[in-house]
Amino acid sequence: MRTIADHLIDIAENSVNAGSKSVEIHLYEDETKFEFEILDDGRGMGDKQVSKIFDPFFTTKNKKTGLGLPLLKEYAELTGGSVEVISKENEGTKVKVLFKKTIDCQPIGDIAQAFATLVTSSDQVLWKIIRCNQDNCYDFSSEDVRDLDLTNPHNIKSIFEYFKRLEAAFR
Ligand SMILES: Nc1ncnc2c1ncn2[C@@H]1O[C@H](COP(=O)(O)OP(=O)(O)OP(=O)(O)O)[C@@H](O)[C@H]1O
Ligand SMILES: [Mg+2]
Repeated sequence: MRTIADHLIDIAENSVNAGSKSVEIHLYEDETKFEFEILDDGRGMGDKQVSKIFDPFFTTKNKKTGLGLPLLKEYAELTGGSVEVISKENEGTKVKVLFKKTIDCQPIGDIAQAFATLVTSSDQVLWKIIRCNQDNCYDFSSEDVRDLDLTNPHNIKSIFEYFKRLEAAFR
């Protein structure tokens, strides 16, 4: 089953594919809602393109289906939530997502795994993460692990375990 963590990966991958040098993820959760914002400094989009991105199968990439944003919007709106995209050509994009924790809300999934997957997927991108559960927050910057060789499986495993410990402290 598709989870909110899967959406998070998908939207952040859009930022990577847009040539971003830096991607920020802000994720906030409480008893009633789960929201995240992804900000990038990638190539951005003009208004005409933004008006098409929620059309199923709209894609500008090879070997992609163009379902990332439409599916996210459908699932978020099913809970009474929303997806908002603000973009400027050659400047960057902000995607703001709200899921309300109703009966129709998808499972949140493995947030630790999603963060670790993104952070270890490329050392070309500077990741900044702020994650809050009510008043409890942690943050992460890929600058913190600048000296780690991400082609070394041992280091990759350490990053997965690091996020797992942070997330476990929330539950
Ligand atoms: N952060 C972004 N910066 C620039 N363009 C974006 C961004 N996010 C989405 N887009 C544009 O919107 C299109 C649709 O995105 P969407 O995630 O729905 O599909 P996709 O990434 O092409 O394919 P899929 O997600 O199904 O693998 C992308 O092909 C891209 O042109
Ligand atoms: Mg996508």
